[in-house]
Amino acid sequence: MKYNAVTPRIVEELVEILGAKNVTTDEEKMEAYSHDETSEEEYGHMPEAVVTPINAEQVAQVVKLANRERIPITPRGAGSGLSGGCIPTFGGISLSLEKMNKILEVDTDNMVVVCEAGIVTNEINEALKDKGIWFAGYPMSLQTCFLGGNIAENAGGGKAVKYGVTGRYVLGLELVTPQGDIVQLGGKLAKDVTGYDLKQLVVGSEGTLGIVTKAIIKLTALPTKSYDLLVLYETPKQAIDAVAMIMSKGLTPTSAEFMDSVSVKASCEYLNESLPYQNCGAMLLIEVDGNDPDVVEADAEAIGDLCLDNGATEVYVADNATTMERVWNVRRNIAEAFKVQSPVQSLEDIVVPISAIPDIIPELEKISKKYDIAVPCYGHAGDGNLHATLVKNPKHTMEQWHELEPKALQDMYDVTHRLGGKISGEHGIGIKRKMNMAKLMDPAEMKLCKAIKKAWDPHNIMNPGKMFDIEEPEA
Ligand code: LAC
Ligand code: ZN
Repeated sequence: MKYNAVTPRIVEELVEILGAKNVTTDEEKMEAYSHDETSEEEYGHMPEAVVTPINAEQVAQVVKLANRERIPITPRGAGSGLSGGCIPTFGGISLSLEKMNKILEVDTDNMVVVCEAGIVTNEINEALKDKGIWFAGYPMSLQTCFLGGNIAENAGGGKAVKYGVTGRYVLGLELVTPQGDIVQLGGKLAKDVTGYDLKQLVVGSEGTLGIVTKAIIKLTALPTKSYDLLVLYETPKQAIDAVAMIMSKGLTPTSAEFMDSVSVKASCEYLNESLPYQNCGAMLLIEVDGNDPDVVEADAEAIGDLCLDNGATEVYVADNATTMERVWNVRRNIAEAFKVQSPVQSLEDIVVPISAIPDIIPELEKISKKYDIAVPCYGHAGDGNLHATLVKNPKHTMEQWHELEPKALQDMYDVTHRLGGKISGEHGIGIKRKMNMAKLMDPAEMKLCKAIKKAWDPHNIMNPGKMFDIEEPEA
């Protein structure tokens, strides 16, 4: 793939568009833009320039320049992604939305909030909480991730069982296309079948179809009552079986999070926290919420009873915010804890139909035995979405790890596929999984994806090298 370099002349032009303080080519400053939270360092790549525009017009001008000069451009949110989506794989320009971080409008008549793409997700709900309304998206990294990144990856997280993933809340988008046009997709509308639903095509497109600069997000009433159940099991299989059973009864908890004992211990140690996990092989964190205290309590009780009838050894109930937050904090920090404890690893987010999650656990155990690699597991069991994590065995050399890890990963993906699942439920394909996606995706579907990309981005300058490879850019 041939791209042009960011020459001093291009840098001058960038400075003209953005002003000197929004452009840098300083290696030290650019290092932070060369990676995301994916643990494998080999994916990292330095940009040739980093720009921090302050409005959509500037974004559009930078994209026009990149498109004209055949320079790759990679949009970037907070860099909290887990598949390398915002890594500037071919160098070029890294375009960070960090300075476009405002709430532009809270429109309670239409129950929407209009935000710039660089706002930290949690800040939206902080600003809304006194009004009793919220954006129900809940990625685990909500305290750091940006709304634009959530949209690019169609982030899921811990409350998707009941509230769904980011895309459900995206009513409208302002998008800078790969050719530098600014388009408004959707709007403050509850319904819209006027043409193709391009905004939902952009959701989850990993920054390959343009740069989201603004979003219109649907709001709902903040639930006033919630219960969290912490349920202990002797084995991971029992815990997962219970989730499949709860979901098949038509009960809809807000969350049904699974954590095996290795994951809980890692996070507790990392946070210097202690939870009642002694002698437990796995744990479920189940939340129920709503507005009628009697209904919420009854649902929590029904779920607790089902758990006890199906192998749970203990059910702890918390309805006070401090206790709940402590448990959730342990859950939210597992990924970070593993990164610190076992930096050589591969964090996965396979997803299968709910009925198939019980079948996944024994398969993970087989993979663990076959390759002599620990595979701790946690995640959004209520969505069939599990963060099985391959962790390097300390007795293996790095060479052995590099040989075993891709094979173990492929086995995991193959079994997921066989069970009717997909290789990523929420972290995306990025650089990390594109070869695996190419192997497992129906060629006819892949052909459609590539045709869309080529139509939107004929010179393949917008976040190239992500999701799938496109042949040479057109001259
Ligand atoms: C989580 C991230 C890793 O669920 O998706 O903790
Ligand atoms: Zn997750």
